[in-house]
Amino acid sequence: MIAGKKILLGISGSIAAYKSILLVRLLVKSGAEVKVVMTNAAMDFVSPLVLSTLSKNEVLVDLASQNSWANHVELGRWADVMLIAPVSCNTLAKMANGICDNLLMAVYLSATCPVAVAPAMDEDMWHHPSTKRNLDLITSYNNKIIPVEKGELASGLFGDGRMAEPETIISFLIEHYFRNNALQNKKILITAGPTYEAIDPVRFIGNHSSGKMGYAIAEAFYLQGADVTIVSGPTNQKVVYPAIKILNVTTSDEMFSVVSSNINNADIAVMCAAVADYKPVAVADNKIKKKDDNWQLDLEKTKDILYFVGNNKKSNQFVAGFALETENEKANAILKLKAKNADCIILNSFNNNNPVFGADENKITIIDSNETEHNFETKSKTAVANDIVSFIISKINNEKK
Ligand code: CTP
Repeated sequence: MIAGKKILLGISGSIAAYKSILLVRLLVKSGAEVKVVMTNAAMDFVSPLVLSTLSKNEVLVDLASQNSWANHVELGRWADVMLIAPVSCNTLAKMANGICDNLLMAVYLSATCPVAVAPAMDEDMWHHPSTKRNLDLITSYNNKIIPVEKGELASGLFGDGRMAEPETIISFLIEHYFRNNALQNKKILITAGPTYEAIDPVRFIGNHSSGKMGYAIAEAFYLQGADVTIVSGPTNQKVVYPAIKILNVTTSDEMFSVVSSNINNADIAVMCAAVADYKPVAVADNKIKKKDDNWQLDLEKTKDILYFVGNNKKSNQFVAGFALETENEKANAILKLKAKNADCIILNSFNNNNPVFGADENKITIIDSNETEHNFETKSKTAVANDIVSFIISKINNEKK
């Protein structure tokens, strides 16, 4: 998403400047073109030689040096985004007041591209009213602020003011400047993770689903411009993009209820959760004590959420389901496709080489409503998610024709 983008990185004098080394490395690794402008104060914290080596571009510091003039206007027009990270209290104040006393400020003041800043300062400086006023001022000039993080500060204090981590900064840039618009205005509802069906106050029936696949699909949809909601069973997964909405549930009944009250707004539903097929008929009020050698637990079927969504879908809705089969994979997947009235079924290949649950990679086959198989190689779950989203976009676009 950031490949081929031109990022102009401004670095001002703050201890957090050490993070700019990793930031440049990650940006270049993602395929971005990076040029660096730094202040004299920033050179006390990080060497221009490191940054020019990593960015493969000359690092600029002064407006004029050795009879040549750094063209600040050209730099601000070259970039897709200007990112100032870290922005120190001092540089922030200059930005708020239009003070042009170094190359970084000259580039900033003449930049025609969007500008984002990642502040870094000690907690008391961060909470000072003048900092707040300066942030408000530069926000009113259409600059974006990358939120600071809480943690250990250079002063030894613990609190607000740490510059966001390089990975978070890159996600912020993608989120705010580089999302595609193939699914703009489309609403996506995704179920993810396992469900837990209580047996008693301390035990439940669950499964090994990690939620990774569902969360990766949510992010892939989000990067295509969609408005995404995950109905998530218990998992440790976190979303990289805070605009993805998470509705947490625990049981299949809760998942059914949240999905059924949100499905009417969805254009696309992807039912990725590993929903328990059975739940205890009754949940014991107290911990069940160990007694006999054998113990039978009465179970009843849970509500099939995909069945409900597929069989109640509106003509403009696209519904995708998953299938996990250990035998007669394709035939069973097709039976699910028909019974659940889905527009496609994504078949996870379950074998020793593809454990599915918890793994970082996955191998899928998508079976569409004509029962045509689309086979994919083993890939990272992120790449699989991109394949699924591209497949759904192509299906939706074909239907429009
Ligand atoms: N599913 C669901 N609600 C359930 C059970 C499954 O929404 N109560 C959805 C899953 O999210 C998945 C699809 O149905 O998209 C198929 O799930 P899977 O476990 O493979 O199949 P089941 O229908 O449960 O059938 P079986 O366990 O017999 O294979």
